Parts: sequence; C-alpha cells; structure tokens
Amino acid sequence: MKIMAFRLLQVVLLLLFSYTHAAVDEQNQQSKQTYIIHMDKSNMPLSFNDHFQWYAASLNSVSDSAKMLYTYNNIIHGFSTRLTAEEVESLEKQPGILSILPEVRYELHTTRTPEFLGLEKPEVLFPTHEEAGEVIVGVLDTGVWPEIKSFDDTGMGPVPRGWKGACMEGKNFNSSSCNSKLIGARYFSEAYEAQLGPIVETVESKSPRDDDGHGTHTSTTAAGSAVEGANLFGYAPGTARGMATHARVATYKVCWLGGCFSSDIAAAIEKAIDDGVHVISMSIGGGTPDYDKDIVSIGAFKAMTQGILISCSAGNGGPITYSLTNVAPWITTVGAGTLDRDFPVNVPLGNGKHYTGVSLYNGKPLTDPLLPLVYAGNASNVTYGHLCLSDTLVPKKVAGKIVVCDRGSNSRVEKGRVVKKAGGAGMILANTDSFGEELVADAHLLPTAAVGQKTGDAIKSYILSDPNPTATIGQGDTKLNVLPSPVVAAFSSRGPNPLTPGILKPDLIAPGVNILAGWTGAAGPTGLDGDTRRVSFNIVSGTSMSCPHVSGLAAFLKAAHPEWSPAAIRSALMTTAYPKYMNGETILDVATGKPSTPFDYGAGHVDPVAALDPGLVYNTTVDDYLGFLCALNYTSSRIKIATNMRFTCDSSKNYNIGDFNYPSFAVPLETASGRGGGVGETSTVKYTRTLTNVGTPETYTVSVSSPDVKILVEPKSLTFSELYEKKSYTVTFTANSMPSGSNSFAHLVWSGEKHQVGSPIAFSWT
Ligand SMILES: *[C@@H]1O[C@H](CO)[C@@H](O)[C@H](O)[C@H]1NC(C)=O
Ligand SMILES: *[C@@H]1O[C@H](CO)[C@@H](O)[C@H](O)[C@H]1NC(C)=O
Ligand SMILES: *[C@@H]1O[C@H](CO)[C@@H](O)[C@H](O)[C@H]1NC(C)=O
Ligand SMILES: *[C@@H]1O[C@H](CO)[C@@H](O)[C@H](O)[C@H]1NC(C)=O
Ligand SMILES: *[C@@H]1O[C@H](CO)[C@@H](O)[C@H](O)[C@H]1NC(C)=O
Repeated sequence: MKIMAFRLLQVVLLLLFSYTHAAVDEQNQQSKQTYIIHMDKSNMPLSFNDHFQWYAASLNSVSDSAKMLYTYNNIIHGFSTRLTAEEVESLEKQPGILSILPEVRYELHTTRTPEFLGLEKPEVLFPTHEEAGEVIVGVLDTGVWPEIKSFDDTGMGPVPRGWKGACMEGKNFNSSSCNSKLIGARYFSEAYEAQLGPIVETVESKSPRDDDGHGTHTSTTAAGSAVEGANLFGYAPGTARGMATHARVATYKVCWLGGCFSSDIAAAIEKAIDDGVHVISMSIGGGTPDYDKDIVSIGAFKAMTQGILISCSAGNGGPITYSLTNVAPWITTVGAGTLDRDFPVNVPLGNGKHYTGVSLYNGKPLTDPLLPLVYAGNASNVTYGHLCLSDTLVPKKVAGKIVVCDRGSNSRVEKGRVVKKAGGAGMILANTDSFGEELVADAHLLPTAAVGQKTGDAIKSYILSDPNPTATIGQGDTKLNVLPSPVVAAFSSRGPNPLTPGILKPDLIAPGVNILAGWTGAAGPTGLDGDTRRVSFNIVSGTSMSCPHVSGLAAFLKAAHPEWSPAAIRSALMTTAYPKYMNGETILDVATGKPSTPFDYGAGHVDPVAALDPGLVYNTTVDDYLGFLCALNYTSSRIKIATNMRFTCDSSKNYNIGDFNYPSFAVPLETASGRGGGVGETSTVKYTRTLTNVGTPETYTVSVSSPDVKILVEPKSLTFSELYEKKSYTVTFTANSMPSGSNSFAHLVWSGEKHQVGSPIAFSWT
C-alpha cells in the first residue's frame, strides 16, 4: 500500500474511463458481479469424471452464458465467474458449494537501507551467494520494468532446480525480458477485464510489464541486484540493492491501473505456490473480513502449509487505531518506520525566521529572495480550499506566490500540480494533526517544502499576523545519520488487531519512508499524467515499501537456514527486533512525538543480522493454526473454507488463543461491568508458549518488565542442550480492572549466555 495517493487519481480516472467502456457489456449482463465459488472437492457426485466437468455442470445449471474466469485447484477448489444475484441464489442451493465470495477490490499500499540495517558488513553467518541464489521471492504487484540494472543477472548461477515458473509474453514483454535474476513473470487480468472491460493497450500493457512503478519498486527492494551510483535527481546517492541481493525474483502482476481484484490475486497465489517460490511479498490490502472471507488469508494459509512465508503490508491507515489489514497469524504483517536519511530544504520567511522542510524537487530553483506567501484556504472559492484539490485555487490569488496547502485528502504531488496549474510559484505542504511531524519527501513538479505540523502552524500564524507575508524555498539536499531513527511513520497502520484481539499485530516494522528503489520507465516519479520525467530509481513511502524489506530479509534467512519453517523465520525476525534505541529510550511515534507502543511497532524494528542467529524460536505447525481456528469456534465447514483442509476440532480439547505459539503476546482483559466500574477487581489469564532451540546449548533466564500487571513466568529458567530441543513455559497475568479502552504494555525476555529472545506484551481492557 503506497501512500503516494496519486494512484487514487489514476484509479478514479481509469474507472471513469473504463466504466463507459464497459457500459455496453454491463447492460447485456444485467448487473453481473464476479464471485469466487469454493467447491467441496471431496463431495463430487460419482456421475462426473473430473472436477472441471462438475464445476462446469454446476455453473451451467444456473446460467447458460456465464464463463469461468479461473479454475482453482490449490488454495481452494472451485472457480470464479460472473453471475447475477438470482444466479448466485440458485447456485447456493446446489450440492457441494462451500462458499460464494463476492469479488473484492484490493489496493496497493504505497539506498541507504542495507547500511541502516547493518547488512553492509559480511559476517561469517551470512549465507553464501550460492545459498542465497537458491531462494525465490514471488512478488504480487503491478509487474516489473525488466530493463533496469536492478535486474542485471551478472554472476547469478543457473535458475534453481525445482523452479516451475514461466516468463509470460505479452505487450512489450517477451521471454528475453526474464533472465537469471528475474526468473519468472506472469500476469492475471481475467477478473480485471471481466469487471472493467478489455485492457486498453495504449494505456497499460497486457503483460507482466509495470506501467505504474510500484511493482518494480517493491521487487527491487526485496531482491534487486546491487546498482552502484543509484540516485533520484542526485538525491540519496549510493549503491541501491535489495535485501536479498542474490535471491531470485518472480513477478505476478495482479494490480492494474484500475485496481487489483480478488479472483486474479487468488489465481496468482496458486501459481506462485505451484511455481516453487519460497517467499511471497504482497504490498496489497483491502479491509479485514474474516479468515474464511478474505482470499489473501485463504491463499496465505495454503502457502504456509507449503513452507512459503507470506509477508504483507500492514496498511497506511495510521495513526488511527484498529487500522490494520492482513492480520492473519499465518501472515507476517509489516508496519513502517523511517530511515536515518532526510532530504532537508530551507524555508526562510519574511519575518527573518528560518524553518526546515523536505523536498525531492529537481527543477529550476526559486531565484527571488522572497515571494508573496498565501494560505490556500484564503485563495480559493470553496470551503475546503486549504487542501488544494483539483481546480479549487483562484489563479488571481495565487499567481507568482508560494502557496501553503494542508496535507490530506488528495495526494501530496497532486497538490503541487494544482498549485502549479493555478500559476503558483512554489508550495509549502503543511502537516495537520494526523501526520504530526512526519516528513515524506516527493519529487514535486514545482519548488516545494513539506513541513511538520508545528512548522506549518507557525507559518500559518505568520500569514495571519502579517499584511504582506513573504517566503522562499531553498535547494534540497541529502542528509545522513539523522536522529532519532527509526521513528514509527504516522501513516503506518496501528493495532489493536481489529479481527482477533488475542494476536498482536503488526508483527514488526521495517523501513518504509523515503525509500529509494527501481522504477518504471512508463511513468514519472510522481506518477501524475503530466509528469514526463523518467527515472530508473524513485523515492517513495508506504507500508508497501516496508513489506518487501521483510520479504527480502525472510529470503535472506531462508538461504542461511533452508530447514526453517515460515513461523521459525518470522519468530527469528520478531524476537530479535528492537523496540528501543541504543540509549534505552523507546522508539518514537512521529505522529505524536511520544514513545510508541507494540500496537505501533509490534515486536520492534527489524534487525536482520541478529535474526540470523536468534538462539530460540517460537515454531508453529499447521495443526497449531487449525487449533487457533478451533479457539475461535470455527465450525468444520468454516475451517474447510479458510484453509482448504478437512479438520474437525476435538470437542474434548480446550482450545485457547492464549496458547497459540506466537512470538508476541496480546492480552485482552475484560472491564468489570456495573456501577463502580469494578475498581479493585482482578482477573487472571494464563498463556502457554513453547521454545525450540536453534542455537548452541544454553541456559536462559526470564525477565519481565511491567508497570501495571502482575506477571508470573514458570519456570524462570530453561536449559537447552540439543539442537531443536523444545521447552514450554507458562505466563500468568493478574490485572486490576481498568477503564474500558485502557492499554498497558510489557516486555518479556529470555536471556542466555549469547542470545536474547524478546517478546512484546500488550494488554487492552475492553
Ligand atoms: C523481444 O525479443 C527480442 C529478441 O528476440 C528483443 O530484441 C526485443 O527487444 C524484445 N522486446 C521486448 C519488448 O522486450
Ligand atoms: C484566511 O483564512 C483564515 C483561516 O481560514 C481566516 O482566519 C482569515 O481571516 C483569512 N484571511 C483573509 C484575509 O481572508
Ligand atoms: C472556482 O474557481 C475556479 C478556478 O478559478 C473556477 O474554475 C470555478 O468555476 C470557481 N467556482 C465557483 C463556484 O466560483
Ligand atoms: C518447525 O515446525 C515445522 C513444521 O512442523 C518443522 O518442519 C520445522 O523443522 C520446525 N523447526 C524449525 C526450526 O523450523
Ligand atoms: C467460543 O465458545 C465458547 C463456548 O461457547 C465461549 O466461551 C468462547 O468465548 C467462544 N470464543 C470465541 C473467541 O468466540
């Protein structure tokens, strides 16, 4: 999910365009909608020879015109098709139908990173290039621009044995577009075209080619080759490389200019599993329906059973609480933090004061010492003029001036275009409450400084107090070693977990602000229609950017430890993540300027070098995940839909989410009801966990810090003498009643002679 909201504009434009385009179709089909039909394969009537025949017969019995868009034979059994509401009703009555899921539209969640993560110094533990080359990262996104240097395969060995993928040809893409780095490329457009009409090849390529930039950025972040001398207009110069520089990339294009559709995504996840990827990276999200309703969750479950780790973006809904997406416990959910790199620009005002903002503007600088300054809210003929929405500024009032626009609603780069179109000379983009001091840099079309809320407020009060306010905007620059870093990005989606409060999400944070990575040759760095600039690298922000960091790092761990399960890899990344800076202070939240909490950063900020050697891991089996669904009271039928596995919960067993072997703890506590608020009442909850030794023989002792809740761990010490030895412990939480909506946080650490295995604990009173 990229926060460059320019995509929104594109989506709107394209939807308008495509709707007229599809209008004729629409009339013929009386408001048909796409559905994914999940069939119970094991209940096929004996009269059929194969499943496809059965699916076709079921479909034909309700509609003689409906065609199958895809058949599925892995993450689910069934097919997708377009049906009217009446047809759905009759199909539901057919035997063997498990579920009928309506199509959902998902959205994208829009190089100094390796150094920041400590990956620049090769260590003994690092996987060799050969080992790393055995790992394949599948990226579901907008495709790739294969010609950029990040996909150079110099020095890459032969494609791993067992790879069954393909390089699909199409518009501007042929088999020679793939190589030993980009080993696979497919596209999935059946559902997209069924919904919006045939792809217009003059606007976007019906092929794996990326016309947007997002997919090129995410896939090169995960596993791009090292490229020396990378930069955007001279900003962020250095060597750009993916997290798993020597791993292979396979791209699965599921997102088009008009969005990403669930039937296409389901087909892509199936193919990625069949092709033999080891990690799936998905910077895509959409709502948080239940585990048996979200096709990403259903597909991820299947991938997990095949030993594939799925890493997804947490969403850009922050700093609002409960804004997370992709929260299934078999998905690794990644939030975003900043790097220690900034792009400062000076903003001198006419009153002699100097402020600082950020910018990636590369064009002609402002030459006048000071220009008239105006607040957009005073230069527009609409009530929300301060947001600089399309065609809302009055040219007479902004011509030749620097215009202050508030952040929010439309994209940041779009605001710049609006100011430029109205004749403005420059823009000061001011954060409002929800973004705090978060500075996101963009390659604006006119001289721009993005400023934090405090600076924005100061500039606005100067405008109000001075009859002739003036300002200018200096030249941008790249600054390194910015402190404090990381801080949690304001846009990064926050907990508590909206679906299952007993599982802490996000799992961890990784760099997602102002990230330099590869870009498409089909769009400028702002992605705006009028942006004719072309770049090989672009700097963008979003949990879309943090997700592929973790996907690449998971590939890096997989190369070092091919035998580790996805849960073991995630555990290693989480228990070694850091929630505090070197000086012992908790990582800050840029939205508030205050210390953040596990609802913002999960286990903390990823530390890949430590993750290579975590000492102990919290492992989970497929049965553990099934037990988790039993703890949620899922029926066998819902389990079948969510997992495509036949499983009946054991009615004699006491399934408990608190015993699910997750590397973090979320403890929902009930507030005593009734008058008096139950002050003084206590509740006690007990959780169980099991650790597996993946390090040297060691004795670990536990320590817990908790200000508000009594925590008892038994036993207090665990001795591991063999590799893969398992030991369990229990944690008993005894809490006083607190007002509904209160939270409290703690940290539990097992310390050995060489290793520290940390887990966050989040209490929430409901
Ligand atoms: C297709 O392949 C040929 C070589 O066979 C190559 O010259 C050409 O550039 C390729 N086209 C694209 C769009 O990749
Ligand atoms: C400009 O807008 C602000 C806030 O919207 C308002 O308080 C102020 O009076 C306006 N100034 C002028 C000159 O219209
Ligand atoms: C507002 O201003 C814009 C730009 O000058 C103009 O196109 C539009 O017609 C105006 N709308 C109203 C309601 O005055
Ligand atoms: C974790 O569990 C999986 C599934 O049972 C198993 O294959 C794996 O060996 C276990 N240990 C590690 C370290 O992954
Ligand atoms: C599951 O059902 C049991 C028994 O009815 C109930 O106590 C428990 O709260 C339910 N759990 C969830 C997560 O709904």
